[in-house]
Amino acid sequence: MPKLIIANWKSHKNQDDVKSWVAAYQSARVAHLQQVRIALAPPMVFIPMLAEALDQHPNTALAVQDISPFPAGAYTGAISTENLEGLHIKYAIVGHSERRRYFHETTQEVANKVEQAIKAGITPIVCVDTEYLQTQAAAIHEDYYAQCIIAYEPLSAIGTGVSQSTTEVQEVVEAVKRAFGEVPVIYGGSVSQNNVSEYLSICDGALVASNSLAVSEFVGLLEAAEASVVAAQ
Ligand code: PGA
Repeated sequence: MPKLIIANWKSHKNQDDVKSWVAAYQSARVAHLQQVRIALAPPMVFIPMLAEALDQHPNTALAVQDISPFPAGAYTGAISTENLEGLHIKYAIVGHSERRRYFHETTQEVANKVEQAIKAGITPIVCVDTEYLQTQAAAIHEDYYAQCIIAYEPLSAIGTGVSQSTTEVQEVVEAVKRAFGEVPVIYGGSVSQNNVSEYLSICDGALVASNSLAVSEFVGLLEAAEASVVAAQ
């Protein structure tokens, strides 16, 4: 199974930055990588531009960083799955700890986002920390578990440059599988080209923010990921 590597740009970058990132990415020949599936999660405003640029790309899909917990309707400022139709969105990150912390998102709202995404054929990437893993699982309808990807993101590792030990990650991967069943589990938190292989040996992919902002760094990480999967075969 190829590993999933997701680039989360958070609220970085302007239009010019995105244009040059994509141009450099296209010429970096990531399309030949066989062992990784890539998803870019740019700020929402850049989704149409990237949808056009990546149309028919063999291994790079699009993800949104968030999604409305409501269907289309009178919800000013929210982006519903209907708004996203035709833009080839494959994944939606939901419940990122920054959404929980700064936007006060609750486990129930995250569960509602999961439902909205799945009903629209978008795979939710549900971010969890150990603190709310159980409550988050309880809030999501069991029927949806098998259609989720769970991202374990320890707060101490996000944006700090201090990634978590693989022993600890392994323990949480097992706890996630006890809570959600046999779902894909990815790890996020200070993943770089130097440590990605360690995480890919114990989980199904990585969620990468800081090291996805510069295209050279991100492509280096993808190549390291590909090489580590090939070496493990
Ligand atoms: P980081 O962030 O890669 O900058 O540590 C990870 C995340 O927030 O998903």
